[in-house]
Amino acid sequence: MNFFDFTDKVAVVFGASSGIGKAAALGYGDSGAKVAVLARRKEKLDDLVKEMHDKGYIATAFECDVTSEDSIKNAAKEIVEKYGKIDILFNNAGIAVPGSIENITVEQWNKSMNTNVRGAYMTMKYLIPEMKKNHYGKVINTASVNAVLFDKNEDLVRHAYNVSKSAMVGLTKAAAATYMKDGITINTIGPGLFETEMTEGTLFKHEGFMKAYNASNPAGRPGKMEELIGTIMYLSSDASNYVTGQLILVDGGITLV
Ligand SMILES: NC(=O)c1ccc[n+]([C@@H]2O[C@H](COP(=O)([O-])OP(=O)(O)OC[C@H]3O[C@@H](n4cnc5c(N)ncnc54)[C@H](O)[C@@H]3O)[C@@H](O)[C@H]2O)c1
Repeated sequence: MNFFDFTDKVAVVFGASSGIGKAAALGYGDSGAKVAVLARRKEKLDDLVKEMHDKGYIATAFECDVTSEDSIKNAAKEIVEKYGKIDILFNNAGIAVPGSIENITVEQWNKSMNTNVRGAYMTMKYLIPEMKKNHYGKVINTASVNAVLFDKNEDLVRHAYNVSKSAMVGLTKAAAATYMKDGITINTIGPGLFETEMTEGTLFKHEGFMKAYNASNPAGRPGKMEELIGTIMYLSSDASNYVTGQLILVDGGITLV
């Protein structure tokens, strides 16, 4: 049995226009899946789909804002119309609002929660029923090491982000306990530090942070994208059929020490 052959599987990637989502979409394509790529920036998605088609992969772009219920509902309908079913949901859309409880506005707090938590709740709300129809599904949510590891420096503090990522762990565990009987596993990845649009201009530019991260990380460095994609593919595959409700930290061991 080839666990990582996704031929005949339909994978849906939210937040696919850049970073981890884009790399995962390519990973699903590499493994033979039909891939629905979603985000707000349609032109970026069109470029990704072109890149995937050039490689011989099957992929379609759907414009979607995860803060909008209608947008998610319509996208789910269009994906099922296009590909007939949904097997894999990679919930990856996210934003990192900087600041402490005192420094962020209520609007920033709401935007963080609406994107990172409410968005994932709504994608699961509309995609899980499609998975239940076939008694098969793999949901991979995206938390962070920042669900369990926190900064104390004022210029690095991201309280709304921390809370949203801790909430992803709770959402994952609660939903996992309910939907295993429907043949659906639900897990969450907790990436350490990877260079993407979210981090390249912020954390990667912060000399003090990078020094401290590398010094306290047993790997001594940030992760490489391919070191994260394998875990996403594992949790998307039948190799993980008895694994559910788990936070899998992909962090070079930084949470160990
Ligand atoms: N890069 C890291 O080191 C790291 C570490 C831990 C967790 N994460 C998480 O990984 C996920 C991906 O982040 P990334 O690092 O690839 O950054 P990124 O900024 O490149 O990707 C974020 C993606 O989410 C999309 N997005 C944001 N708001 C959206 C909305 N309202 N509707 C639809 N799509 C929306 C963006 O367009 C983009 O495609 C995020 O959830 C992030 O919190 C990243």
